Amino acid sequence: QSLLDLAMKMPKAELHLHIEGTFEPEQMFAIAQRNQVALKYDSVDALKAAYQFENLQDFLDLYYQGMSVLLKEQDFYDLTMAYLKRVHEDNVVHVEIFFDPQGHLSRGVSFDTQIKGIYGALKDAERDLGITFKLIMSFLRHLDEASAFETLKLAKPYLDWIDGVGLDSSELGHPPEKFVNVFHECQSLGLKVTMHAGEEGPPEYVWQALDDIGVDRIDHGNRALEDTNLVATIKRQGLTLTVCPLSNLKLCVVDTLVEHPIRSMLRLGLNATVNSDDPAYFGGYMNDNFAALVKDTEITKEELYKLACNAFEGSWLDLETRSKHL
Ligand code: ADE
Ligand code: ZN
Repeated sequence: QSLLDLAMKMPKAELHLHIEGTFEPEQMFAIAQRNQVALKYDSVDALKAAYQFENLQDFLDLYYQGMSVLLKEQDFYDLTMAYLKRVHEDNVVHVEIFFDPQGHLSRGVSFDTQIKGIYGALKDAERDLGITFKLIMSFLRHLDEASAFETLKLAKPYLDWIDGVGLDSSELGHPPEKFVNVFHECQSLGLKVTMHAGEEGPPEYVWQALDDIGVDRIDHGNRALEDTNLVATIKRQGLTLTVCPLSNLKLCVVDTLVEHPIRSMLRLGLNATVNSDDPAYFGGYMNDNFAALVKDTEITKEELYKLACNAFEGSWLDLETRSKHL
């Protein structure tokens, strides 16, 4: 069995996935038409041609444009179900997905509409495909903390459906400390916390996520490797890093996969995992990320296996369900 075969066939868990980032251009055009809303691009090919990013913000501008055609509960259901069916083919058996409520509230789409569509698809795929899930509500860090608090208020009737909270969008200039109060409130409600940190932002932002917030997980974390003391702390706390190789390549966080830090993270004893982030924009789902690592790096069988195991260990699944998957 080749290394590639092994990687494709392993059972996998995805811990860093923005559901709005799974919006494939074909589906985007179909839903835009169904909702009678106009897109800035006049064809699927024109839209795909625009997917050239020099940094995170370039991508985010298109990401918010793309999600603007999502209006109805059915739209959120269809988006989520398409992702789940797609990763079922990649032997992904557990997902912990983000959604960005503020990206839809600002357009007049209610919290109820969003979460009912997403949660409905997750429940149906659990029943029909055996994919277990956790749902993570993410706050947009370019907005203020008051807006995050308002969003949390809207989420209160749905706390049974929400397992954790995250922090995403433009990292530079929006450090974790800006959101200390709202995350502490979330923790007091029993929610898990993860945060994008060290994707473009400096090690200081990762320190804040650890020390000021007390995160359960770190999304990306690439730049943590610039600080040996920080690496030691992440290791000591046993925190999982949800790393996204193809995303990092597309957003120019790295120039090539050979220089991607994921294997260094493993060597340093950090619990790195492989994830797709926004697969419709970055050229690949879970198995594409693994395939790229196999193709472009000297990754070993042991490293592939460790990456897959780390995802289950870093997941928020109870031990019983976790062991059923393995
Ligand atoms: N929103 C969607 N994907 C993101 C990423 N990789 N970083 C920050 N915000 C995001
Ligand atoms: Zn992300």
